[in-house]
Amino acid sequence: MIIGDDAHTTVFSALQFLGLGHDRVIRLKTDDQGCMLIPAFADAIAKVRGPTIVIAQAGQINTGGFDKFSDIVPLVKQAGAWLHVDGAFGLWARTSSKVSHLAAGVDGADSWATDGHKWLQTPYDSGYAIMRHELAHRCAMTIAASYLPMAAEGERDPTHYVPELSHRARGFPT
Ligand SMILES: Cc1ncc(COP(=O)(O)O)c(C=O)c1O
Repeated sequence: MIIGDDAHTTVFSALQFLGLGHDRVIRLKTDDQGCMLIPAFADAIAKVRGPTIVIAQAGQINTGGFDKFSDIVPLVKQAGAWLHVDGAFGLWARTSSKVSHLAAGVDGADSWATDGHKWLQTPYDSGYAIMRHELAHRCAMTIAASYLPMAAEGERDPTHYVPELSHRARGFPT
């Protein structure tokens, strides 16, 4: 796992929940905008071995800084790693011709998280996770039990894509 020192605190909480802890990951120094330094990133990803996740961000909480996805994406692909983007508010920059350049290259990631309850000003809690690889997503989340009905062939069962079973369709209205 490679992550910038200025990632949002909730990203470190997620690592804590996963049992990885805050310090068993490679934390990279950042610039004055809280963005990962590309030479340090290139160096770190060249050295890692085995399955690797990189977490970059679109919109650093204090500065609004965007990691340099155009530089990061090719290095991630070359290493066969997975790039996740924390775009809680900044991912929406892609919808604006004025600021979309800030997130140039972000489309090359493997997964993205963003919130409606930030830039879009929707009520809490409208968070979205977007995944390029459906099977990986499904394999990570599927919960099976004898008392749960199986989805029919070809039918999408929403519980196979979220960590909780008793979960209303919170994202649906937005
Ligand atoms: C960059 C970033 N990531 C993650 C979060 C956490 O979002 P939430 O509170 O919706 O879980 C925030 C909240 O401000 C944020 O700015």
